[in-house]
Amino acid sequence: MSAAPFEGLNMIHPETYAKHGYPHELWKWLRHNDPVHFVEQPEGAGPSYWAITRHADITEISKQPDKFLNNPRLTIGHLPEDRTDEFPDTLIQMDNPRHRVFRRLIAHRFQPAALRRMHADIEDIGKEIVDALVQNDYGECDFVEKVSAPLPIAVLGWLLGAPKSDWPLLFDWTNRIIGAGDPDFQAEGSTPVEAARATMVELFTYFAKQLEEKKKNPADDLMTLFTQMEVDGKKLELMDQLAWCLIIVVAGNETTRNGTSGGMLAFVENPDQIRRLQEDPSLLAPAVEECVRWSTPIIHFARTAACDYELRGKQIREGDPLALFYGSGNRDEDVFDDPYSFRIDRNPNRHLGFGVGEHFCVGSHLARLEMQIAYKNLLPRIEEVELAGPVERLHSSLVGGVKKLPIRYKLKPIA
Ligand code: HEM
Repeated sequence: MSAAPFEGLNMIHPETYAKHGYPHELWKWLRHNDPVHFVEQPEGAGPSYWAITRHADITEISKQPDKFLNNPRLTIGHLPEDRTDEFPDTLIQMDNPRHRVFRRLIAHRFQPAALRRMHADIEDIGKEIVDALVQNDYGECDFVEKVSAPLPIAVLGWLLGAPKSDWPLLFDWTNRIIGAGDPDFQAEGSTPVEAARATMVELFTYFAKQLEEKKKNPADDLMTLFTQMEVDGKKLELMDQLAWCLIIVVAGNETTRNGTSGGMLAFVENPDQIRRLQEDPSLLAPAVEECVRWSTPIIHFARTAACDYELRGKQIREGDPLALFYGSGNRDEDVFDDPYSFRIDRNPNRHLGFGVGEHFCVGSHLARLEMQIAYKNLLPRIEEVELAGPVERLHSSLVGGVKKLPIRYKLKPIA
């Protein structure tokens, strides 16, 4: 076996992603040489874990939720674990039978049929945001600030039923929770865990008030739904209602934002694909799929083995943590032709960007819709586009975040 490239590269350290982006060379080497690779973490760091890098293995594990659990940890950290039970588990931290019961309470709200009902409103929210960019024929902006950041939080704020004036607050809180390890979002004098916890308290205090309000004045929104949900004939406890608010706002915000930014960056780097979309607008849906594969906003989620399990000759023991590297699965040569090319007409595109199996992303249709709206209102008008400065990445090994995407563009006149 040849030596692994970048031997010292830490696959779960937030800085790796901020400095180098995704470690594609290392993942490729692992897929070919040691796809079920045990990573020993030093004393005083996070847990040692199995790095799973092949598409087939990520799928095999994700489709056996009773053998590979989401509890007690959803991510592998590079610091000692500091878990307390002061916050309730959200959907994605649950295992069966509870997970299936809870998932059923919400899944219907995000199905295509339900979204069709809201399509026009979501389209209006998206169009208003993108329209600000296309007022003049030339422009320069940070695409994250102008489009990919405001769009998902506006849509989620609207879906939840939060007043428009509060959307910036939601935006700030989710940034601080997901980017707790990022210097730009970190409160001075606090560790990432303390910072995330303090933000969660603020977020929960806010939502507790809002939920109280929804009980008095129900509306057709998600917060009202959370106050009315029942399990075994009983309404959910306040903490469980809060956990719903949290998962929707956290899971639906940074992911979509980074999928939209990552896709835009891919278009900027591959202008021929913008032309291709302009020539054939029916490629919008496959283009969004390719943007999700290409950017793979969720870098990894963890599982914990509930029993001994043999995978590719390696003996995984009960209690062992595993990291599923979706970004690696999405470049797997066994599944994708020419995986390192960004091709908007890729078909089939069995990417793992939204996960696979039991916990497959509840919001995938919504995310696709938002990304389609962002691109469809902008890309057909692009004459030229280029980077106007360096791309800055988030310090996180959970969400592969683009913090800044400065672009300069020239638009075609409206036909
Ligand atoms: C491009 C955008 C998005 C990406 C890349 C993404 C990715 C993912 C991934 C990888 C998972 C875990 C799947 C697994 O373990 O197999 C997940 C779960 C989840 N996502 Fe998304 N997501 C996105 C947008 C959204 C949106 C817009 C929402 C809702 C508003 C959402 C809500 C959820 C929820 C609730 C779960 C947990 C499902 C469960 O545990 O059963 N996501 N997402």
